[in-house]
Amino acid sequence: MTGERLYSIRMRASDNGRHVSGAERIVPHERVRGTVDELLTRPLAKGTRPDRMSVSIDEIDPDRIHRVQALDLVMLDTADTASARRYAARVLERSGVAPQVAQDAIALLAAGPGPAGSAMRGAAIMDARTGARLEEDRTRGVRATRFDWSESGLQRINVLLGSVPLAHFRLREALALASKAAHAPGIVAELCWSDDPDYTAGYVAAKPIGYVRFPRIKEPGISTGGRVFFVRDSSIDLKAFTRYLREVAVLIDEPGTFHGVQDPDCFIASLSR
Ligand code: COA
Ligand code: AMP
Repeated sequence: MTGERLYSIRMRASDNGRHVSGAERIVPHERVRGTVDELLTRPLAKGTRPDRMSVSIDEIDPDRIHRVQALDLVMLDTADTASARRYAARVLERSGVAPQVAQDAIALLAAGPGPAGSAMRGAAIMDARTGARLEEDRTRGVRATRFDWSESGLQRINVLLGSVPLAHFRLREALALASKAAHAPGIVAELCWSDDPDYTAGYVAAKPIGYVRFPRIKEPGISTGGRVFFVRDSSIDLKAFTRYLREVAVLIDEPGTFHGVQDPDCFIASLSR
């Protein structure tokens, strides 16, 4: 791959200042045009008419690209949203997040993590031991960008997710984001569910455990949600942490192992073995 010209292409669309859609890819030179088209299909096909769409294209130094394997993937079939959140808390604890901090983070997303219960534009950062909020700006948070599946990684993850019940392109993208984030210096785990009222799935992710998906961690129609990156403690180098998330280009070369849909108790028990 060394020498190949690669570009980060990032699209976002908004309507009256409200974010409508965002997506990104990392592709070789000859696929730039087609990818811009592909990315713009989303806001144009959504049934809304965004008044602003922007596409940024930056060449990436191929020698600086990090290549990582995706996190392993498992889905936990829980009876309802309350039990999904209980199991999410237990997975967070097994990842190294203090029990009270795990509870607080879940309550935070349920209430809306931004000022006055609003959504944040990016993720909150929490000290995994104390729960202290470490992001500079509680409305903005920190955004992870410049990541994608490599060409061969994309083919393989598409085949793998083709066998998954209720797989969604958002799962593939969130798995890519979580796989990049899991390699951030000082990170312990991540918790996310969408603020999109039509999307009820969410996850806990951590390098040693993988990406644990909960199909119903939120009731339909609810527009509170968000993302939390838990870091080891408040002494980590936050500048290096956010720089990695925002600036380091990461290609995900291959999927991890797919463990299928599992009973939550069996899965939690398997983590202590
Ligand atoms: N909600 C609200 N505002 C958003 C937003 C969101 N989800 N995403 C982007 N914005 C707006 C913000 O105003 C942001 O400004 P800020 O940094 O002051 O908050 C602005 O867009 C610029 O964001 P930035 O990330 O600097 O722009 P970019 O053009 O480099 O990248 C995205 C835009 C949307 C492609 C990128 O932020 C992103 O989210 N990439 C990941 C996409 C993806 O695969 N997501 C899967 C998640 S499950
Ligand atoms: P989504 O799953 O896209 O609905 O995003 C859920 C929440 O995660 C949003 O409300 C944001 O707070 C946050 N978020 C979205 N995109 C990013 C990103 N690229 N990096 C970090 N946080 C994000």
